[in-house]
Amino acid sequence: GATLAHPYGDFLHCLSLRISNSSAISKVFYTQNNPSYSSVLNASIQNTRFSTPTTPKPYAIITPRKTSHVQSTIYCSKNHGFQLRIRSGGHDVEGVSYVSQVPFVILDLVNFRAVKVDTKNEVVWVQSGATTGELYYGIASKTQTLGFPAGICHTIGIGGHLSGGGFGILGRKYGLAADHIIDAKLIDANGRILNRKSMGEDLFWAIRGGGGNTFGVVLAWKIKLVPVPPVVTVFTVNKNLEQNATKIFHRWQYIAHKLPNDLFTAVWIMKVNSSQVGKKTVQAGFRGMFLGGVDELIPLIQHEFPELGLAKENCTQMSWVQSILYFGGLPIQPVEILLNRNALPRSSLKAKTDFVKEPMPETGIEGFMNMFLEEEADFAITMIEAFGGKMDEIQENELPTHIEQASYAGTYINWIRRLYSYMASYVSKSPREAYYNYKDLDLGTNNVNGYTSYEQASVWGLKYFKNNFKRLVQIKTMIDPMNFFRNEQSVPHLWSP
Ligand code: FDA
Repeated sequence: GATLAHPYGDFLHCLSLRISNSSAISKVFYTQNNPSYSSVLNASIQNTRFSTPTTPKPYAIITPRKTSHVQSTIYCSKNHGFQLRIRSGGHDVEGVSYVSQVPFVILDLVNFRAVKVDTKNEVVWVQSGATTGELYYGIASKTQTLGFPAGICHTIGIGGHLSGGGFGILGRKYGLAADHIIDAKLIDANGRILNRKSMGEDLFWAIRGGGGNTFGVVLAWKIKLVPVPPVVTVFTVNKNLEQNATKIFHRWQYIAHKLPNDLFTAVWIMKVNSSQVGKKTVQAGFRGMFLGGVDELIPLIQHEFPELGLAKENCTQMSWVQSILYFGGLPIQPVEILLNRNALPRSSLKAKTDFVKEPMPETGIEGFMNMFLEEEADFAITMIEAFGGKMDEIQENELPTHIEQASYAGTYINWIRRLYSYMASYVSKSPREAYYNYKDLDLGTNNVNGYTSYEQASVWGLKYFKNNFKRLVQIKTMIDPMNFFRNEQSVPHLWSP
């Protein structure tokens, strides 16, 4: 409940004065005694680890319907000492979009969901509260030959996803989602409305990957679409330990990042109950998406990667937008599932990421696979995605480049941590790099109250941003010198007395 010491009433008064003209005020802010408060709060809590009775709850949730509501929320939070947490899709792996240890309110962009597709100019204005699924559906309902290179899971919010990069099955061909943003509408800590021109190229660079809840509220993004063929081919070949999974995975590492850019492949490792071997075993699922037909794909794989034994029956031809559902583990039609924000089950999740620069030796893979036989791995998965292609071109000039990105996710936190420490010798070092969109507070955090120094934040900042961290800090200091927008892992400002 509200602590008496906190000027909660003042905050509400401030908001009601500023939003009072709106007839929809009851649909714009929800306090804890509003009967809809819990359902609005829970609507996009994707990680059940952060919806327990002891999880700190916001003093209010504001679901703006107009830009002026966003400006008012910033103004009143700032003046009455509430921390603001912006939420779009609620997929933040550490829940920082809806949990804070200090008094806070949530700005939930659930009503900012418009997707305006312009096929003639091959661009879309998409609002931050839309999901990737709503974006993909919007594109596919207008054209079969344009797509957008963003993440696989269709319930991710555009706001957080584009703020942190965005990698998916078109990544080897086209790079990250953030590479295809050409304009944005941002509200800064002073309530100013900025676009690419008025914010300038430095800030425009920073909001495309430098993290959410850091530079301001991004209300909408203008993105450039990319060509896709009307028919793509997807495949899955599952191999368990008894079927040589270790050896085939080992071989895959030498091949996957050099395959043509039109072919994306990944390996998903998990425990399965195999009827063939009559017990639990570990499965490596080799999955791919090819921007072309099956008759072209099979000879290509047979030539480059015969060990996989890819056959026609492993493959399915479909549209690009259906391939999103396929990778999400959903039926590929009706494609309207893309509009369903609750199509995927929610669970308690911890995630970590790594970048692999050199192939893991077979013995290393063996040990890694064996860890999945442990009981705590019952609800765990490692997804290893091959890079190369466009991903090599856009990375910093540094050799050797990343050949894979591995993300570990599971319900048992200690097991995930042990897996991560096992992997230490096989992945990038000094720093051990991580991907910002799979936030991991184990890497280090800002101080909950008070100033966080550059040195302290560098501990986690360099892992996510490497040499770009310094520039991000400088831009942050310019646009938000009071550090109004912040969370446990937001780029900090430099303090000057
Ligand atoms: P959420 O609303 O929780 O926001 C995340 C962060 O961004 C928070 O700090 C929030 O305050 C801030 N933020 C949100 N909206 C903002 C806005 N409009 N302006 C400024 N800041 C804002 N990633 C990937 O690259 N490829 C993938 O395939 C997947 N798949 C995937 C599957 C599942 C099940 C999960 C849980 C996560 C992923 N991700 C992913 C990671 C995902 O990209 C990442 O968690 C995004 O930040 C989620 O964005 P949301 O808007 O949903 O999150």
